[in-house]
Amino acid sequence: MKVIRSIRSMADFSRNAHIKGKTIGFVPTMGALHEGHLSLIRQARKENDVVVVSVFVNPVQFGPKEDYKHYPRNLKRDTELSRKSGADIVFYPDAGDMYFFNHKTYIEVCGLSGYLCGKFRPGHFKGVATVVAKLFNIINPDTSYFGQKDAQQAIVIKKMVEDLNIPVRIKVMPTVREKDGLAMSSRNKYLDKKERADAAVLYQALRMARDLISHGVTDSLSIIRKMRQLISSKKSARIQYISIVNPVDLSGVNTIKERVLIALSVYIGKTRLIDNIVVSP
Ligand code: PAF
Repeated sequence: MKVIRSIRSMADFSRNAHIKGKTIGFVPTMGALHEGHLSLIRQARKENDVVVVSVFVNPVQFGPKEDYKHYPRNLKRDTELSRKSGADIVFYPDAGDMYFFNHKTYIEVCGLSGYLCGKFRPGHFKGVATVVAKLFNIINPDTSYFGQKDAQQAIVIKKMVEDLNIPVRIKVMPTVREKDGLAMSSRNKYLDKKERADAAVLYQALRMARDLISHGVTDSLSIIRKMRQLISSKKSARIQYISIVNPVDLSGVNTIKERVLIALSVYIGKTRLIDNIVVSP
């Protein structure tokens, strides 16, 4: 397995792979790899001739008060885990090469970026869409793999690819969870022992919502109220939002008649965690 740092070498590698008729599977990451990422790499390995994993902590998707500086970085560990999971290339570009001092072009997927997390993280999805479009242009993958945990991100990327005619297939793979149901996330590392135990309440609340819907409850507000009660029973939890929305366009749903996305963002202590499930009535 090779680590490629230069944008030009990465683009050359991909061009040569395509000339040889090889398919490229691509897993974009910000490093701090966990089982969720590794499941995407393994899936890419099964379905492609060549697997590229990018490790790039993208400055433009972090707000000024967010954890860009402190985001966990460990290239050696990420490279080793990528190799073991079947990657051929780790693409590890420099932030200064990705964003020259005079970088002026950004991609905004209008509408979709303003819901859910977008409301609380202005500019976040613009940063995500921009870096993913740049990575797609450099790597030119046949298929790219994203996790359902970042549901809104996956929806934004799918729309961007559709609208800009980017020739890549997007595959969204299921959320990988810890034994107690907590969705795997690089930010789980920030939780202390008590917070880590409390964090399991997020998936409990999502499961409760699913049970209520399966018992015929259709009123979103009453479901959200019960979820709020359960999550608030943990002292360390501060709810940012709990929403029940259409899983395609993220518009709000008052009465549940069709498949919905139930998404939440909750601070456990100082750590902001997100999770979601898709439920059919
Ligand atoms: O999900 C992530 O880790 C990031 O948002 C992504 C897709 C790698 C873009 O920086």
